[in-house]
Amino acid sequence: MNISNYQKYISEETMMGPNSVRILEELFSQCPLPFSPDDFILDLGCGKWLTSLVIAKETGAKVYANDLWISAEENRNRVIQWGIDKQVIPICEDANDLHFKKKQFDALFSVDSYHYFAGSKGFFENKIMPFIKDGGIVLIGVPGIKDKFEGHAADILSDWLGEDSYMFKSPNLWKEIIGNNNRIESVRTWEMDCFDKAWSEWLAVDNEFANGDRQYFDSIIKPYTCFVGIEIKLR
Ligand SMILES: C[S@@+](CC[C@H](N)C(=O)[O-])C[C@H]1O[C@@H](n2cnc3c(N)ncnc32)[C@H](O)[C@@H]1O
Repeated sequence: MNISNYQKYISEETMMGPNSVRILEELFSQCPLPFSPDDFILDLGCGKWLTSLVIAKETGAKVYANDLWISAEENRNRVIQWGIDKQVIPICEDANDLHFKKKQFDALFSVDSYHYFAGSKGFFENKIMPFIKDGGIVLIGVPGIKDKFEGHAADILSDWLGEDSYMFKSPNLWKEIIGNNNRIESVRTWEMDCFDKAWSEWLAVDNEFANGDRQYFDSIIKPYTCFVGIEIKLR
């Protein structure tokens, strides 16, 4: 994947945090996969469709773009403008209560959103896995805490994140949370390499959220946090 193909779409309007296209670039490079136009992919927590656009272009597959905070209507306008309305289907549902068909998707991607709703044991098995086909793959990138600080998120991150600190979990803990099941072939978690670039591109944006993050970057974000990559392969 060549990130420069997407530069014109990465803007203050479409970014919702550290550059999600960088995170996707690493997920694609770590797990190169053959997709076809007959495949179905779920982009869970797609925000403003930046990730859905990249997934659609890189895979050629049909993408169901699901988000809770951004309405399907708002996203539909953007996607018509981007010319991918035949390939990307907007859905507005809570990830806790999705209504897709069983084993509908060949793959699921989730960038910078899975930590909001999926941080408890059993969530993947009960709420997500039923929608993924046998042999399917799940690729997730979430902000988290480095392994050596696991268990201390509330103390370390609360000046920056307040009560949301608990959402930041380490690569090792995410592996445990995903858990085992006889449909799961493997779970791999890692600290992502794209951290510095994804953050510096977000901190260059001038909006209240980036400005809020900027004041904690050197003292909290950089020393203690990371991006966690999660790859789950189903049998
Ligand atoms: C920081 S944004 C990231 C959006 C996008 N993936 C990106 O990287 O640009 C987090 C997204 O998670 C979504 N989200 C949070 N809780 C959710 C839930 N329970 N169900 C579905 N989406 C949820 C929000 O709607 C929000 O758009």
